[in-house]
Amino acid sequence: MNLDLLTREALAAFAADHREAFEAELRLLVEIPSVSADPAHAADVRRCAEAARNLFERHGGQAEILETDGNPFIHGWLGDDPGLSTITVYNHMDVQPANEPEWTAEPFNFVVDGDTYRGRGSTDDKGPAVTAFFGALAAKKAGVPLNIHFLWELEEEIGSPNFAGGLDKYKDRFKTDAIVVSDTVWITRGKPSTPAGLRGLKGFILTLETADHDLHSGVVGGAARNPLAELIELVSKMMDGNTGKVKIPGFYKEVVKPSKKELAGWATSGFTTETFMKDHMLKGLRTMEPLGILKRVWGRPTMEVHGVVGGYTGPGIKSAVPPRAEVKLTCRLVPDMDELKTMDRIKRFVKKHNPDVVVHEEHGLAPFKGHVTGPYAEAIRDAYQFAFGAACTFTREGGSIGAVKTMEDILGSQVFFLGLSLPEHGYHAPNENYDWEQAGGGMAAFARYFQTVSGIKKQ
Ligand code: BES
Ligand code: MN
Ligand code: MN
Repeated sequence: MNLDLLTREALAAFAADHREAFEAELRLLVEIPSVSADPAHAADVRRCAEAARNLFERHGGQAEILETDGNPFIHGWLGDDPGLSTITVYNHMDVQPANEPEWTAEPFNFVVDGDTYRGRGSTDDKGPAVTAFFGALAAKKAGVPLNIHFLWELEEEIGSPNFAGGLDKYKDRFKTDAIVVSDTVWITRGKPSTPAGLRGLKGFILTLETADHDLHSGVVGGAARNPLAELIELVSKMMDGNTGKVKIPGFYKEVVKPSKKELAGWATSGFTTETFMKDHMLKGLRTMEPLGILKRVWGRPTMEVHGVVGGYTGPGIKSAVPPRAEVKLTCRLVPDMDELKTMDRIKRFVKKHNPDVVVHEEHGLAPFKGHVTGPYAEAIRDAYQFAFGAACTFTREGGSIGAVKTMEDILGSQVFFLGLSLPEHGYHAPNENYDWEQAGGGMAAFARYFQTVSGIKKQ
């Protein structure tokens, strides 16, 4: 191992020398609209898998596209020496749809604007994926004795429905000492954080039909049932729209409160209400108290109303009684909540309060409890400090990544997080972006991480 190539200066030089190649690779990937939610993009998803495989091969790595019952995933690797330890890096190559009207340029054109890279998928999660890959190239160039494997999924943004089945089929190729995921956000620029937990997610749709077609509200109104009003009434019984409190009996029963130590870490993480509001351009909040916000986003479950479908939405008013309506909801789940128990409570509640409402369940994700001690967690801490000159806080994450718990369960190794995205990069938002400071520093952080973990004795 050539330690001279692993100093901060040498890695900064590596990043600068590879900036052009990094931008070219990220451009290729961002310009493929690999929207997993939309069947019309199936061919693009496939093209993205091929582009990812080509990326590994262009830089001296190997890669294969592995088929599942849904979208494939990519297995790439730099080194496969049975005498060495192996680290597997997880990222996802699928992206959210990008039809928000606020985009200032075509979302699948990669725009380089000084140090900012714009385009759907630039930060979630193609930018961090390519960053980790270049960090691995830097480590390999310095002769770090480690097998570095990559697992790039193409169904993350739809809840990873075929990931467990696929991984189970190919698990023998993924024998690994630890897994590192780069798909999370910092507190703010200069303040890295790594999650010690993720929330789970369970979606469901409520539908109600009370007639066959639109009816004149002067002719039947007053006597006819109104499905839109009934669903609104039901939802307001389920949760308080102002405070967010869920009123379903037992909903919070299995929630594990954050420990004193965790809360102390959150309180000193550098989080401020003002920056949070600015980063996300929020106009108001349910609480202004910083720790209150973190407890709600990281430590508590939610019930969210995402969409109400039904009735007339054109100009003016059409005074009809609508025949049917639908409400789309999800719950974010925290440890130790259970998807089945939660859904069972919701279904019983709906049945009791409006037996005609039909509940349709979506694929769910379990909450995840992470690891904050041991050599692999220490290596994460060290990598951030080394590359960005700032200590990271072990926090939790309000979002969900379906593959995380699945990888621990099937591969039997622990998952750690080395995320690089910032709140203002705008996960899922219009004008999503990533930047060179995070990418260049991220390459150094990954290279350092690989160096450190290559020295951990195999268990
Ligand atoms: N990268 C995010 C997960 C995430 C979100 C991490 C916020 C940290 C903070 C991931 O791509 C994502 O968006 N997950 C979805 C999963 C869902 C669509 C099944 C999520 O959390 O909504
Ligand atoms: Mn992501
Ligand atoms: Mn996402």
